Amino acid sequence: MKAQDVVDFVWQIAPNPSFGTENVFEVGDGDAPVRGIGVAWWITSELLDDFARRGITLGLTHERVLYDLPVDYPWGQIPPPVTLRANRRIPELCHRHGIAIHRFHSNLDLADWGMPRALVDELGWSRYEIDWSRGIPVVEHPPVTLEVLVREVKAKLRLPFARYDGDPRRVVRRIAVPWGGLGQQWLGAACAAPLGFDEIMAGDVIDGVVRLAREEGWAVIDAFHHATELEAMRRLTQKVREQFPGVPVRYYENAMPWAVL
Ligand SMILES: [Fe+2]
Ligand SMILES: [Fe+2]
Repeated sequence: MKAQDVVDFVWQIAPNPSFGTENVFEVGDGDAPVRGIGVAWWITSELLDDFARRGITLGLTHERVLYDLPVDYPWGQIPPPVTLRANRRIPELCHRHGIAIHRFHSNLDLADWGMPRALVDELGWSRYEIDWSRGIPVVEHPPVTLEVLVREVKAKLRLPFARYDGDPRRVVRRIAVPWGGLGQQWLGAACAAPLGFDEIMAGDVIDGVVRLAREEGWAVIDAFHHATELEAMRRLTQKVREQFPGVPVRYYENAMPWAVL
């Protein structure tokens, strides 16, 4: 079996959108023979070491494994990308052990079983009314205090801690969910704004999103980028496993990147 056979299957279950130019082989190509498949939300060199030990030759990742750099950057002088150790080490590890890595990003976010759908399922919120009309879902949650909601999200996503902004005693019920990295900008929250909501649950939330949320009267929970996207990767693993029963398919769980003092 070749890597392309697996890639073609993923296109079937999660079609590539017209703008999905990032969904490509980051390392290697479709001719790579597949002896084992490793799936992770973000494949790192630490995971590649384990791929090598286990004879895994195809990695499926949601986020990018090579850290690209723009040519023009007004705040400093950008070096050639290969000056970053990661950008040398990751391809070296792949070449040494015959590993190809394909990225599946926007196609997984948009699949009808992908990131936001899997997330609301994992949270147990699929049984509530959800408005998907503006792309970013708005969930009609039973009224709870912000504190209770933070604790619910923390427990269901198995987070060691969560960040939030707002009065913990405030009662919230309509929750916008700009999942994954959509908290890195306020665009995701703005998409859902015409629907009205009183709480944002996002990942990778920046300061500016919190400032805007205060202006708009929204409470905020940062449930983290990885934690709001992992469930879809577990689903992808299962789908690939069922389709290719003759090949070992291993899921790697990316852990919380932060510690707090
Ligand atoms: Fe995503
Ligand atoms: Fe993401």
